[in-house]
Amino acid sequence: MSKVLLVGGAGYVGSVLAWELLERGYAVKILDRLYYGEEGLRDVRDRVELVVGDMRAFPASVLDGVEAVINVGGLSNDPTAEYNTQANYEMNTVATKTLAQMARERGIRRYVFASSCSIYDRGVGDEERDILLDEESAVHPKAAYSGSKHQAERALLEMVGDDFCPVILRKGTVFGFSPRMRYDLVVNTFVKDALSKGVITLHYGGEMWRPLVDVRDVARAYITALEADEAKIKGQIFNVSYGNMRISELALRVRESLKEVGVKTEIKVDYGYRGIRNYRVSAAKISSVLGFHPVVSVEESVKDLVEKIGKYGYNDFDNPRYYNIRWMKLLEEADRIIAVTGSVFAAPSQGTTR
Ligand SMILES: NC(=O)c1ccc[n+]([C@@H]2O[C@H](COP(=O)([O-])OP(=O)(O)OC[C@H]3O[C@@H](n4cnc5c(N)ncnc54)[C@H](O)[C@@H]3O)[C@@H](O)[C@H]2O)c1
Repeated sequence: MSKVLLVGGAGYVGSVLAWELLERGYAVKILDRLYYGEEGLRDVRDRVELVVGDMRAFPASVLDGVEAVINVGGLSNDPTAEYNTQANYEMNTVATKTLAQMARERGIRRYVFASSCSIYDRGVGDEERDILLDEESAVHPKAAYSGSKHQAERALLEMVGDDFCPVILRKGTVFGFSPRMRYDLVVNTFVKDALSKGVITLHYGGEMWRPLVDVRDVARAYITALEADEAKIKGQIFNVSYGNMRISELALRVRESLKEVGVKTEIKVDYGYRGIRNYRVSAAKISSVLGFHPVVSVEESVKDLVEKIGKYGYNDFDNPRYYNIRWMKLLEEADRIIAVTGSVFAAPSQGTTR
């Protein structure tokens, strides 16, 4: 049984992927700082080896017995990356590269990296870029998050050799249920807003394009990249998307699916301008080279979300844990207070004078 090191395996994507890897007979070792707790590993905890640690500094022994690495760890959206650009760079770029070097030194050839289609973003107003972009398109990411992913990609591509086989998946915006739930991703936000307020809000008129993909399809894409012939994937970048949609169309589709499961939703449109991401991509390469086709539609995923949110009790929608930036800010605040108080409820062993 081949052992895979899954960095960030307790996250939104990682926890679905961990389950899928186990189902396929892989042994799974997870390295995760557990920023969002262990909830994502609820159903797999007794079947995975968990190393609680930081991807920027961990003992080389974490790689013992490992035959392949999948890296889905680090800061995973724009707001958290902008909030602490240094940590973002250390995790998303430097740690990605260092982990690859450590793997290569150990003779671990396969390294699958979680990049993002947000690398293609140019906002609105650039007509020449308002086309279907593919892996060959020139990219000049400006934001901290997409910039750090792009730098990591380049570092990995420079390492391609006879002894190392990195492969990069640029995912569209992911949707669907995960035991480590996120409601800060557009489809999931729509479903959460519909269930909690009966209203979906479209910013900037919902004009922007976005490639989208269900989290179960994403897990299958990683496994495809893990198992593909080296010759097909070494040093390759693949976009992963079910399809591109304007956010306005997405809202209509979400509303229709919700109607079918008895949830009535209004759509409110806000035409105010604010910094928005806008890009659409081709997923033809992963289909032609690897024969990989996402199968889960937005409609199907929305119905599944409604069912599982109810069934597993993820309807405490205001819990900051579901929103990466809110949660990280809260952890920092708690960290500052605990640095002074020493603990939450436990009495300090000696009186402290300040
Ligand atoms: N979710 C999306 O829509 C999407 C789209 C494109 C790309 N991606 C990329 O896919 C990957 C997974 O995204 P996600 O939605 O699962 O994110 P997530 O935030 O839910 O999960 C990230 C995981 O990494 C862990 N982590 C963060 N920093 C760490 C560190 N320094 N050391 C060890 N562990 C650390 C966290 O504890 C968490 O479990 C990320 O690399 C993200 O950038 C996500």
